[in-house]
Amino acid sequence: MPPTVKTCPDAAAVASAFAADFAELIQNKLAGQEKITVALSGGSTPKILFELWASEFADKIDWKRVHFFWGDERCVGPDDPESNYGSANSLFLSKVGIDSANVHRVMGESDPDEERDRYENEIYEYVEIDDEAVPQFDLILLGMGEDGHTASIFPHQMQFMTSDKVCEVAIHPETAQKRVTLSGSVLNGANKVAVLITGAGKADVLAQVVNQTGEFKSLPISHLECDDLTFYVDQAAAGSL
Ligand code: 6PG
Repeated sequence: MPPTVKTCPDAAAVASAFAADFAELIQNKLAGQEKITVALSGGSTPKILFELWASEFADKIDWKRVHFFWGDERCVGPDDPESNYGSANSLFLSKVGIDSANVHRVMGESDPDEERDRYENEIYEYVEIDDEAVPQFDLILLGMGEDGHTASIFPHQMQFMTSDKVCEVAIHPETAQKRVTLSGSVLNGANKVAVLITGAGKADVLAQVVNQTGEFKSLPISHLECDDLTFYVDQAAAGSL
């Protein structure tokens, strides 16, 4: 299933477009659902969304029904500038008063292999399980690296896109930093996947993925197969489409 591509003028408009669709999802489609499970992405792109959620949506969304997880986390402490949880918490979670019981962070300060197991158990405890016994998030928010990685599934570890585990311990190809990441099976089992992609640096890779040209088959993000998959991109990233 090819992704739906929503092109917006700039990064702020990408965040606004996704935030509006997210609010619609929570308030309408999932209005009667007591617990909504969302996995957040990391890196720099979502920071503008976190700031928007804190400034414009604090009182517009019934946040107490939302349980936050992470699609991937760097194996660092929560106060480390590299921490995806740390970024979301300082920009959004702490500002909107999300109950700590609704925040299911990866403990990046722990041993990666032990944390992979622990985080997987926490996901099984809170996330609905689909017919194939795979945890099924209501929404997974992702980004894309310039090498076509998503979450922390990198081209040199493509096997994680088809792993039968819920989580894997990945290694960044340049820094060798360890990360806990959801596997492709969980990414593709989600009810909805939204990918925020901004900046001219991603234009060539995005064109390969969307147009299925060049090296697209070797790019993990090309193997996202969720039925409800939307790329929210700015004009700069869409420059080669
Ligand atoms: C991470 C992310 C990763 C990110 C892409 C894009 O932990 O880094 O989850 O998959 O989404 O690398 O990162 P930028 O938004 O910083 O370009």
